[in-house]
Amino acid sequence: MIKPYFQEENFILYHGDALNILNQMENNKFDLIFADPPYFLSNDGVTCKSGKMVSVNKGDWDKSKGFNEDISFIDSWLKGCKRVLKEDGSIWVSGTLHNIYKVGYLLEKNDFHIINDIIWFKPNAPPNLSCKYFTHSHEVVLWARKSKISQHIYNYEKMKKWNNPKDKLKNTDKQMRSVWSIPLIPNNEKKFGKHPTQKPLELLNRIISASSNEGDLILDPFTGSGTTGIVCSILKREFIGIDSNKEYLDVAIKRFKDIRKSELLFSPEDQNHLMKYI
Ligand SMILES: C[S@@+](CC[C@H](N)C(=O)[O-])C[C@H]1O[C@@H](n2cnc3c(N)ncnc32)[C@H](O)[C@@H]1O
Repeated sequence: MIKPYFQEENFILYHGDALNILNQMENNKFDLIFADPPYFLSNDGVTCKSGKMVSVNKGDWDKSKGFNEDISFIDSWLKGCKRVLKEDGSIWVSGTLHNIYKVGYLLEKNDFHIINDIIWFKPNAPPNLSCKYFTHSHEVVLWARKSKISQHIYNYEKMKKWNNPKDKLKNTDKQMRSVWSIPLIPNNEKKFGKHPTQKPLELLNRIISASSNEGDLILDPFTGSGTTGIVCSILKREFIGIDSNKEYLDVAIKRFKDIRKSELLFSPEDQNHLMKYI
């Protein structure tokens, strides 16, 4: 097994190609996987950012190599993830129309069992400049268990409570639904450097809280700035992340060191403070 790029306590980062590193891991290792893969949306188009017209391109890693190669790439990393996932484990994969239908097809082809297709609704999505179609304002996060018979974790009561916070005037006691309204990433989550497709901590907080327990081992094969690992650290899960870009991993390390400093300053009971990070 190659040496980690960074390791401190239960937070481990590998630098390299996800397929190559997955191939070096043993079978049935992880309780949960969150994958935020290339969406293949860097097609030289434009979008709107802070009121300005900017390119949609995120980097070469996000460019489509054509239908068949994209399918073959997704199929390979999904197979790798399936092998390293425990029998009762589950996997989340995020995407947009550019990749998510291929991911859904390949999850089924590889005998995963899709549990939910979560809609992450972005209430503050930027406007659409072309005015030729509806404004994109959501992403899809597919949640699947390893097989039809897997006994996946779902922290039902926790999600129900979360959906009915005490400070709401009316406690409606409704179940958590599959449309989640979570704003775009706030600026303070980017203070250690920018990643072009960084996910908000709140999205990962919900995913990890819903489908894993304290002490579980979680993998993110496309970890970028390490959002999954930061939430794992706060929620006391063990974490392994992989990325092919060192600059992104360096942002992840800075974010991890910052959150650990805060965790050490406060007692484990004082989770409320840390949750303000989220
Ligand atoms: C959508 S971003 C993930 C962002 C991350 N969720 C975050 O919050 O920062 C996808 C990441 O996959 C990485 N990547 C692309 N192809 C890869 C590959 N074959 N192996 C490993 N990492 C790869 C990119 O460098 C990029 O950081």
